Amino acid sequence: MNDDLLELEITGFAHGGYGVARYEGVVVFVAAALPGETVLARVHTRRKRFWFAVTEVVAVPSPDRVTPPCPLARPDLCGGCDLQHASLTRQRGLKSQVITEQLARLGGLDRSVTVAAVPGDRDGLDWRTRVRYSIAPDGHVGFRRAGSSHVVVVKDCPIATPAVREAEFAGTRVTAGAWPDAEEVIVAAGSEAVAVCPVPGGDRRQVLRESVLGVDLWVGVTGFWQVHPGAAPALASAVLANVAPGARVWDLYAGVGLFSKVLAHRGQQHLVCVEGDRRASDQARKNLRGSDVEVVRSDVARWLGGRSDVDTVVLDPPRSGAGREVLDGISATNASRIVYIACDPAALARDLRIAGDSGWMVGSIEGYDMFPMTHHVECVAVLDR
Ligand SMILES: C[S@@+](CC[C@H](N)C(=O)[O-])C[C@H]1O[C@@H](n2cnc3c(N)ncnc32)[C@H](O)[C@@H]1O
Repeated sequence: MNDDLLELEITGFAHGGYGVARYEGVVVFVAAALPGETVLARVHTRRKRFWFAVTEVVAVPSPDRVTPPCPLARPDLCGGCDLQHASLTRQRGLKSQVITEQLARLGGLDRSVTVAAVPGDRDGLDWRTRVRYSIAPDGHVGFRRAGSSHVVVVKDCPIATPAVREAEFAGTRVTAGAWPDAEEVIVAAGSEAVAVCPVPGGDRRQVLRESVLGVDLWVGVTGFWQVHPGAAPALASAVLANVAPGARVWDLYAGVGLFSKVLAHRGQQHLVCVEGDRRASDQARKNLRGSDVEVVRSDVARWLGGRSDVDTVVLDPPRSGAGREVLDGISATNASRIVYIACDPAALARDLRIAGDSGWMVGSIEGYDMFPMTHHVECVAVLDR
């Protein structure tokens, strides 16, 4: 058993939040380890050319190692925050390094990208406005352990906003109650109210008001919304800054219409908002009622076929990226600019390479620390041709 416990020198940092070590010619991805550290780590998964391990003892700590603000932020406990053991400055530095490496390796781009805090950042805590609790065998809420279905009971989550942490259902705080009949409990805080939705049994039709840069949108309690309170304003500002006022715009993967709404509010004409999910697109239609925006419910790739009259495409695909079919579809239009919002740097890098093959030039790429204490990071890239 102890053959699995290795002493490892961490020499790098990989996408996914792992320290990287080498052991007898094998690359080992080590959870909860920072570059420069020596750790004792337990190997739990062996593939032919790389292994996965979890830090058990930090023999030589990095100067950037800190005591996690949350006592559950350990790989054997809550699987949510995989970077709380690093200072916030180092977290952002590591994310910059990961983006730069992904762009080089998968995108063929030599770029150094800075990752900055979003407005309203509070030392990386108090930001999560959407929480989906799992249910432990004793009926209390919790989060799953990394790589496991085991639910760790959670009484408090310091990365959640105070409104989410204190949310009540039927007079009892969500984290204090027992939920024997629920499969999960969703808590969502909008700009002014909080909704709690046990599943099954809760009201999934509840909507919350979100106020962003002077506009209001309504979002379903189970629907997609940017989770950090500073995220929607930061991304919407980036879109406004990179879309010319007179441009004809397609807002692809539009969710409930955030970017269309702020663009329409600025006076943008000729806007089309395309979203595949029925509930999100219905909500977008309601959010954009009264404005001159065409709202379409469709798969993006299918909708693109044969259309061409556009100047700027705002592209905010899911984690897997837009992919070749969508990028080729955009390249076949008259568009001269893409504003690409990406939540996965590897998918972004792959898509930038595909776009580059069709003649697009990559301009600015900005990193946003919208998910502090975790390895996740958002980027906005601007492409022109
Ligand atoms: C990252 S979210 C972006 C939402 C929105 N731009 C925002 O910031 O609020 C991606 C959205 O793409 C939608 N989506 C995923 N795959 C799609 C597809 N193939 N066609 C159309 N929409 C899709 C999802 O339902 C989701 O609303």
